Amino acid sequence: MLTRKEYAEKIINGKKADIQNGSKAFAPANIALCKYWGKRDKELNLPLTDSLSVSMGNCGTLTSVKAAPGKENIIIFNGTELSASSPFAEKINRFAALMKPDKGPALEIATENNIPTAAGAASSASGFAALTLALDSFYGYGLGSRELSMLAGIGSRSASRSIFTGFVYNHRGQRIDGMDAFSEKLPYEWPEMRLGLVTVSSEKKCMSSGKGMEHTAGTSILYERWPSQVERDMELILKALNEKNFELLGKTSENNALSMHACMLSSNPPLIYWEPETLAVIKTVSKARNEGLSCYVTIDAGANVKLIFEKKDENVITGMFPGIRVISPFS
Ligand code: PMV
Repeated sequence: MLTRKEYAEKIINGKKADIQNGSKAFAPANIALCKYWGKRDKELNLPLTDSLSVSMGNCGTLTSVKAAPGKENIIIFNGTELSASSPFAEKINRFAALMKPDKGPALEIATENNIPTAAGAASSASGFAALTLALDSFYGYGLGSRELSMLAGIGSRSASRSIFTGFVYNHRGQRIDGMDAFSEKLPYEWPEMRLGLVTVSSEKKCMSSGKGMEHTAGTSILYERWPSQVERDMELILKALNEKNFELLGKTSENNALSMHACMLSSNPPLIYWEPETLAVIKTVSKARNEGLSCYVTIDAGANVKLIFEKKDENVITGMFPGIRVISPFS
């Protein structure tokens, strides 16, 4: 069994560091159409199932890295220096240590999100992906995107997908050493596709996704069927992408997300990320769909709802949800 550090070293595979003056990297956030919910290895953060996402265009995280003058890392988030003991700084420091070469300097890491975290967009995905890319170019390793996706996945599994744009597939892999758990970009484009972020709550979620997965896997009988649901949904989503069948894509993504939440609800005690407004949005969308609108919902580990629709329905949908933030993943 490898430790995280040994796993990171195995991925870096002896590449010599060639430390640069500074580096800057952007990574997009992403929304899973087929969700990841559960780990096969906690230490290496390897997923129990495959997952598939669409990236959020130019919404994401910009991170820069340079050498810090002293012995300690300096972490700056959205323009403010954080105390080294804040959970966010600790998370970044732990991750940065995985890629640090022998005798590497202390770092100043400045990271900025251009999506409000409160909008429920996955900022840990773009955050760890941008950090992985910025550290790779600061240290001059020149790793390939597959290796970068493996490293980012140690930070958070969804970050593995944020190394790429467009539709991205994350492979769970089979190997105990995790060397076959990586992400790849899929060869599909969908320029008319739109994502809508409907913010119903800006409260912090009631349980982190890591804890939530562990709780669900440990206590929900329904969760035993989750891997077979993912297997079926993955086939249907790939078929929808191949045939450019929006109804099939939307219907399958919505069912996948609601099934993930059904597993959470059936855990003991129940894990409920939703607020009453979450359900209200789901009902509004499903009623509009019965009246002919082609729009679907997906929800991550939180109360906010993401809508999936196409450009032709953008005006109707922004009329229905005035505070919505619309994203074009392919422009
Ligand atoms: O990768 P994490 O630990 O941020 O967990 C992501 C979990 C979901 O957002 C609910 C699903 C997913 O695949 O993004």
